[in-house]
Order: sequence, then C-alpha cells, then structure tokens
Amino acid sequence: MSLTGTLDTALVTGASSGIGATYADRLAQRGHDLVLVARSQDRLHALADRLMRKHGVKIHVLAADLTLPDERARVEYRLQEDDSIGWLVNNAGFSAPGALADGRLDDIDAMIQLNITAPTRLAGAALARLIERGQGSIINIASALAVAPELSTGAYAATKSYLLSYSQSLHREVGHRGIRVQVVLPGVTRTAIWERAGKDVDAFPEHVIMEVDEMVDAALAGYELGELVTIPALPDMDAWNRYESARLQLAPDLSRNHAADRYKSDIPEDA
Ligand SMILES: NC(=O)c1ccc[n+]([C@@H]2O[C@H](COP(=O)([O-])OP(=O)(O)OC[C@H]3O[C@@H](n4cnc5c(N)ncnc54)[C@H](OP(=O)(O)O)[C@@H]3O)[C@@H](O)[C@H]2O)c1
Repeated sequence: MSLTGTLDTALVTGASSGIGATYADRLAQRGHDLVLVARSQDRLHALADRLMRKHGVKIHVLAADLTLPDERARVEYRLQEDDSIGWLVNNAGFSAPGALADGRLDDIDAMIQLNITAPTRLAGAALARLIERGQGSIINIASALAVAPELSTGAYAATKSYLLSYSQSLHREVGHRGIRVQVVLPGVTRTAIWERAGKDVDAFPEHVIMEVDEMVDAALAGYELGELVTIPALPDMDAWNRYESARLQLAPDLSRNHAADRYKSDIPEDA
C-alpha cells in the first residue's frame, strides 16, 4: 500500500548507504519509483539494480556532491521539473570530526552545506510544484541531538537543530496546502556515519544503539501516524508534547516593548 494513496516517485538523498539506502528499500517495497542521490555512483547503481530486481520499480541514479553548488543545482532542477516526484527525503548528512575549538572551519562549512543548505534548497526547489499539485511529502532527517546539543561536540547538533526548526516553520507555512512535512530525530543508529566521523559506534552502550532497519521502519510508522516530529526511540510521545508545550508558553513573553526588570539598571538617573 502506498503511504500517500498515490505512488509518487521519491527522491532520496544520501541513498548510497545507511538510513538513506534503507528508506530507498522501504519506499521501493511500497511501490514508489525512486531517484537516488549521493556521490558514489557505483554504490547507487548497485543499490538501484538490487531494488529494481527485488521490487520491480523504476529507479534513476543522480550522482551529485550536495556540498557543491553546481552539482546540487542538477538535483534542484530535477525537483523543479520532474512532475512525477512527490516525495523528498532529505537524508544526506555527515558529522564533521573535531570540536569547535579545533578550528576545522572548512569541514564545518562543508557540513553546513550538506546538512543545512542542501535540504533547504532542495525543499525550496520542490515546493512550488508540490504546492501547485496540492500534494507532496518532505521528510527531513535531523537527529535527537537537535534537542540535546550538550551530548555532542562541534557544530553537528546545531545543524540538526536547524533542520528541526526549519521543518516546524515549513509545516506551519505549507502544511495546510497539502504538503506533509516530517522531521525525524534518530538517536544513535548503526551506520557508516560514525566511522566517517572518526568514532566507534560500539563505544556506546548497546542499549542506546538502534539498528537501521528498525529506525527507518519506526520513522515511516511515524509518518503514517501523521507526526510532524518523529523520535524513533522515545517511549512516550507525551514527553515530547510537554516539552513543546513548555516552549510554546514562552512565546507571548519573547517580544515586549520594555526589557525585563532584571536588566534594568538600579543606578539612579542623577547619580
Ligand atoms: N547514524 C546515526 O546515528 C544518525 C543519528 C541521527 C541522525 N543521523 C542522520 O541520518 C542521515 C543519514 O546518515 P547515516 O547514518 O545513514 O550515515 P551514512 O551511512 O554515512 O550515510 C550518509 C549518506 O550521505 C551521503 N553523502 C555524504 N556526503 C555527501 C555529499 N557531500 N553529497 C551527497 N551525498 C553525501 C553518503 O553517500 P556518499 O558518500 O556516496 O556521497 C551516504 O549515502 C544523516 O543526515 C545523519 O546526520 C544519523
């Protein structure tokens, strides 16, 4: 059964491994044709061949480095022009190694390009067309670190906080125009991302590590439940709802015509 009622093509970024490859498998299993994006053309073709044989869907490979504007532009163009595409899974991402004080600014800049600029531009490229047809799905893969930046070093968590915030804004803007927005906040998931970041996933206690199949299946179940925010590991969604409710209660007091009393000088004016 389709998740949307129609079998739109899904464009999945970072589809050559881990979470993206698993999304590709699950969406193909449901009958969606696919456009697979990542840098490694060989791995994408191998996956496409396997999934086409397994699920009998059409799959196109679009190799691109999403940190490079010229290459990213080919993916944007595809999203603007290809009327069959109704799903965008913004999954490609990486965690630049090192702490902020290490000063690896080029690595951090590339991470911002991949984790922030690319998903924002790709969603933007697809939106006008999806709004016109009144239907579409944009899934952003953030991280549980979006709400727990203290658990991480470097700017990775901040890029994921951006994706959470961006998804909430996007939902508010286009949710009522037929666009389903979902942001997924996985915890530690066993994929190649850890090794690429110079870390050993097995250094974490076993009870905090989720296998990638279970993580993606949970995320798709969250989509089917109509969730805007899906946290695959969180046992009680009410805990998230309470957190959101506390945040929203701040809203009326975040902008006022006078500073709060604690910021007012107690030095008399004629002193
Ligand atoms: N695994 C976790 O514990 C975890 C937890 C929370 C969130 N996440 C998020 O989940 C998403 C998927 O990560 P993963 O765990 O599945 O890691 P992964 O196995 O390393 O996969 C990352 C994917 O992104 C692609 N990619 C990397 N750099 C790229 C670039 N410059 N241009 C285009 N594609 C690029 C990679 O393919 P190529 O190398 O072929 O380009 C690969 O397909 C990421 O956004 C990550 O931040 C992961």
